[in-house]
Amino acid sequence: MIGKEALMESLYFRHACKIFDEKKIPKEDLEFVLEVGRLSPSSFGMEHWRFVVVQDAKLKIAMRPFCWDQKQITTCSDLIVIVSKTDKVVAQEYSNAMFMRRGLTVEHFENYITRYTNFTYQLSSIKEWSLKQCYLAAANMMSYGAMVGIDSCPIEGFEKEPLEELLGIGHDEDIALLVPFGYRINPQTPKFRLSFEEIVEYR
Ligand SMILES: Cc1cc2nc3c(=O)[nH]c(=O)nc-3n(C[C@H](O)[C@H](O)[C@H](O)COP(=O)(O)O)c2cc1C
Repeated sequence: MIGKEALMESLYFRHACKIFDEKKIPKEDLEFVLEVGRLSPSSFGMEHWRFVVVQDAKLKIAMRPFCWDQKQITTCSDLIVIVSKTDKVVAQEYSNAMFMRRGLTVEHFENYITRYTNFTYQLSSIKEWSLKQCYLAAANMMSYGAMVGIDSCPIEGFEKEPLEELLGIGHDEDIALLVPFGYRINPQTPKFRLSFEEIVEYR
């Protein structure tokens, strides 16, 4: 277990890094961050994400105009595009396989399928539900990345359609968000947060 103090230190270390110093993240550390994403929780265990790791400088340059021209895109070491498997998570073949791998009895499996079908049916948007799961993976990757000294910046500021076209993301999937990872070049900006009392209520 890691002490609370060390964890708190890394939470303060993490910030939305606006420009990176182009230093490469060692392969082992990058794979640690990706592994953190892979192990993240997801509703019904559907693992709604896949991770496209953009390392090619030319591709980053091509992406930047569709990302509000943000410097993080081209200065980071690794640009992780979190792609939501929107349609796949409700495709029977995929969802059945995700339940089957648990080694359930037939009865248990059928109960799961019924609950899952009813749950997804009452959702107002499969896409929004799926995107939310991707944000959990992103949050974990950024927080754990900070624990090993890696900076990041969540990026929602992008033009979805042209970026998906550039990356060849099909209509059955959606880019949830981009997360550039690397190392900061500038000192961290101050952290602004509402106070504990303003956001916590005990009942
Ligand atoms: C989902 C999401 C999308 C964001 N998109 C951008 C972005 O496109 N560009 C950017 O510079 N910061 C972006 N941010 C960073 C936020 O502005 C930042 O997290 C917030 O101001 C708090 O600052 P801190 O992360 O440095 O503590 C995004 C944050 C989140 C959670």
